Amino acid sequence: MPEKILVTSALPYANGPIHLGHLAGAYLPADIFVRYHRLKGSDIIYICGSDEHGVPIMLKARTENVSPQQIVDRYHEMNKKSFEEFGMSFDYYGRTSSTVHHEVSSDFFRTLAEKGEFILKTEEQLYDPKAKIFLADRFIKGTCPACSNPDAYGDQCEKCGTSLSPKELINPRSAITDAEPVAKETTHWYLPLAKYQKQLEKWIDAHPEWKSNVLGQIQSWFKSGLNDRAVTRDLPWGVSIPEDVAKKYNVDAEGKVLYVWFDAPIGYISATKEWAQAKGNENLWKEYWQNKDTRLVHFIGKDNIVFHCIIFPAMLMVHGNFVLPQNVPANEFLNLEGNKLSTSRNYAVWLNDYLQKFEVDSLRYALACNLPETKDADFSWKEFQARHNNELADILGNFINRTLIFAHKYFKGKVPDAGQTDNLDKELIDKIIHAPAALGKLIDNYQNRFYVRDLMELARFANKYFNDKEPWKTRNSDPQVCATTIHLCCLLY
Ligand code: 2FM
Ligand code: ZN
Repeated sequence: MPEKILVTSALPYANGPIHLGHLAGAYLPADIFVRYHRLKGSDIIYICGSDEHGVPIMLKARTENVSPQQIVDRYHEMNKKSFEEFGMSFDYYGRTSSTVHHEVSSDFFRTLAEKGEFILKTEEQLYDPKAKIFLADRFIKGTCPACSNPDAYGDQCEKCGTSLSPKELINPRSAITDAEPVAKETTHWYLPLAKYQKQLEKWIDAHPEWKSNVLGQIQSWFKSGLNDRAVTRDLPWGVSIPEDVAKKYNVDAEGKVLYVWFDAPIGYISATKEWAQAKGNENLWKEYWQNKDTRLVHFIGKDNIVFHCIIFPAMLMVHGNFVLPQNVPANEFLNLEGNKLSTSRNYAVWLNDYLQKFEVDSLRYALACNLPETKDADFSWKEFQARHNNELADILGNFINRTLIFAHKYFKGKVPDAGQTDNLDKELIDKIIHAPAALGKLIDNYQNRFYVRDLMELARFANKYFNDKEPWKTRNSDPQVCATTIHLCCLLY
């Protein structure tokens, strides 16, 4: 039986288009991995979808005077289409506003509640009396006490970098309505992460093979000590708290939803369920999620590490019915021409724009050469052009083109039989034999930069082989040698 592999890519928020940073972080590396395993015959499925909850989606809807559902419908369709055109080979692309997802995530919450794993806390939080919503720290603005920037956020001043709490802001105001926030009591469910820290540490200790950028972040969270995490919010958009659970805790569920980072990763499970339903085999999802031998791999960007390596695994451990990730090969960030990519500042190369102008493979190749696997990387149009022209077209493209043209023109479009081989032929044969395992190992170890580098090296060698063998001469002087040359070139192709 081939091993079962379940691959996920971070569910992108459905409040903006996909940009190159997303692709380099969580999507292209996963797609390379999945395509390789499919070729190898692994039993692999690849799950993704839109993350459709959270405050930014609500705010965007408010700014445009439309409903959150309209926003997520728009971006879900747009991103799904762009991903398809980019060649992402998801087995299923779900969305967290689906009924199945709402059921699966509220059941998950109920299970944890029934196991008595949550603690309830009533605390004062800032509230916008005009918009009638509680305000996340990011949605409170005010004057920075350190540098007097009048537009500092409730969690940080972007001008001087000081970390802040909303209470420290001078003249705080709601970023939504400009109203002065008032303190109001509210009750929420918390996951006491400290309780699971030992278990999490033991699990992480069993994975010394994980990428060092990932392990580094995890260790620093462990070192600071894990705190209680609120898993619910007062918001009108999200997965509602199940009434029965709220009742048992004596809390009014009205206006309360699951925190987006509680429901989003459960989206991997609900999307797999939907995939199984679509295949007409309701229970198929269990063969992946409820099989201790499944190799579950989450592809993400570095800003998602704590959620996928600490919080979601803690949720899975406590729940008890699901497999834990076997690896979380998070990538660092991709910059654009030396500057940070930013959706809110509209500084990005948007995938849907790119697709209208250039070829998919040029971008897949240029990005793969430069993935931020161990440190941040930079995308520049100059490098994109050079990768396309000097490598993809002039080396790989040229080799394939000249081989196929030759075979068509002089061998009636068929692969000719090989004859005797000389040393140069043998050198090429040796590379052909060893390349799949060597390249595959790099892909399996999440080292795609080395993989594409070595692949292009092989194409470079093949081009030189073609030149050195001069089939355009041997065609007349020694047709058998010519046939062997073209036979081997076709094998490589
Ligand atoms: O950072 C993000 O874009 C999140 N929407 C990723 C969610 S990943 C998973 F948990 F759903
Ligand atoms: Zn400041």
